Amino acid sequence: MTTRDASFQAGDKTVTLPIIEGTIGPAVADIRKLYNDTGMFTYDPGFTSTASCESKITYIDGDAGILLYRGYPIDQLAEHGDFLETCYLLLYGELPTVNEKADFDYRITRHTMVHEQMARFFQGFRRDAHPMAVMVASVGALSAFYHDSTNIADPVERMVASTRMIAKLPTLAAMAYKYSVGQPFVYPKNDLDYTSNFLRMCFAVPCEEYKVNPVMSRALDRFFILHADHEQNASTSTVRLAGSSGANPFACVAAGIASLWGPAHGGANEAVLKMLAEIGTPDRIPIYIAKAKDKNDPFRLMGFGHRVYKNYDPRAKIMQRTTREVLAELGVKDALLDVAIELENIALHDEYFIEKKLYPNIDFYSGITLKAMGLPTAMFTVLFAVARTVGWIAQWKEMIEDPGSKIGRPRQLYTGQTQRDYLPMTKR
Ligand code: SDX
Repeated sequence: MTTRDASFQAGDKTVTLPIIEGTIGPAVADIRKLYNDTGMFTYDPGFTSTASCESKITYIDGDAGILLYRGYPIDQLAEHGDFLETCYLLLYGELPTVNEKADFDYRITRHTMVHEQMARFFQGFRRDAHPMAVMVASVGALSAFYHDSTNIADPVERMVASTRMIAKLPTLAAMAYKYSVGQPFVYPKNDLDYTSNFLRMCFAVPCEEYKVNPVMSRALDRFFILHADHEQNASTSTVRLAGSSGANPFACVAAGIASLWGPAHGGANEAVLKMLAEIGTPDRIPIYIAKAKDKNDPFRLMGFGHRVYKNYDPRAKIMQRTTREVLAELGVKDALLDVAIELENIALHDEYFIEKKLYPNIDFYSGITLKAMGLPTAMFTVLFAVARTVGWIAQWKEMIEDPGSKIGRPRQLYTGQTQRDYLPMTKR
């Protein structure tokens, strides 16, 4: 037992738990032998104190409000790079050289089209279907089109599938939006950058040329960078668990999209806009602050709080600045922004929020930005999914390429009935 090891006393049994140090952040107590040595499980619903894996991709210091992608601070990446540079970094582990970036951009750009049959796939949905439902279905359906990149044991196929996913998600997202507004799908154009291509596929119409607003494109590209990855959040853990069974990457990302949809996770940006609209005016904020503090009221302030950030979410700061840039560029005066700024100001000075360490998270401002860009609220989480696809894929690849990875199969604390015999109907 080293000085750093932990020991665990269970009745008359004492087991040594090796402590494993990371490069930064909390060490872990290795409990893999605990059940064999003690016959006991650990218990941690929601995994508040449990590391599910080892990873080299993203690191969060929740107290210091720090987020690193492969060691690079998020504010520097958002300031100096573009989204495809962040994608390259997350996938390959290093910032690309000029040639590597040009090659990566070329490969992604030339995978942006989807099989023409996918257009017919959309016809099965009602026009008012939630676009996240369309995304779960259409991304899962990709595995039916790309049998040549579902052999997860082949590194070449893994990278082809990764490229296809990053490239095609914006196309499918734009198709989901066009379908919801009854406009024709717009094909991607190879002479546009990733984010400008997405804006054009969403907003161009056949009747006139679409001119990309560079401020919008830059703002959305920054939105994508901020949302690209975030350690083992609920949707990433879903992708890892689905992938641990050997499921194909398209199905795993579809599972991640389904998990992201929840209002406690990626669905929060949509929920924030609904909450701000319900509050309506700054004078009604105290009513909602009181509801959020009332233990008997299930209402929570959407866009506030985080499992890891117990200080300000560094992404929220950058998102707030981007919101102001977009609104200024468009000359939009959004009353919801006034409500949001006043709500943030009140909450940050309220004892309850200070004591519970509840700060605005990235979803608090992102929705206002997307609304100003002309996207409907229902599309907000779709854009989060477009951005997070690279994170899901990078984490999935890391798991598949980890020789120690095994199928995820948690145990449980059983508190149900002990064994009993079947009762015939006459005796019930
Ligand atoms: C994302 O994991 C990630 O990294 C996610 C994400 C990513 O990039 O992948 O960052 C993206 O999902 C951001 C979070 C978006 N969700 C929301 O904004 C929804 C509102 N927030 C809450 O639902 C909540 O804060 C969570 C889900 C984000 C975090 O929940 P936890 O860590 O399980 O914390 P908790 O529910 O145990 O809350 C701790 C306390 C509780 O009070 P007590 O039971 O201790 O008395 O704080 C309270 C909660 O009631 N609380 C809130 C609150 N969030 C927590 N009270 C009012 N309003 C809130 N928003």
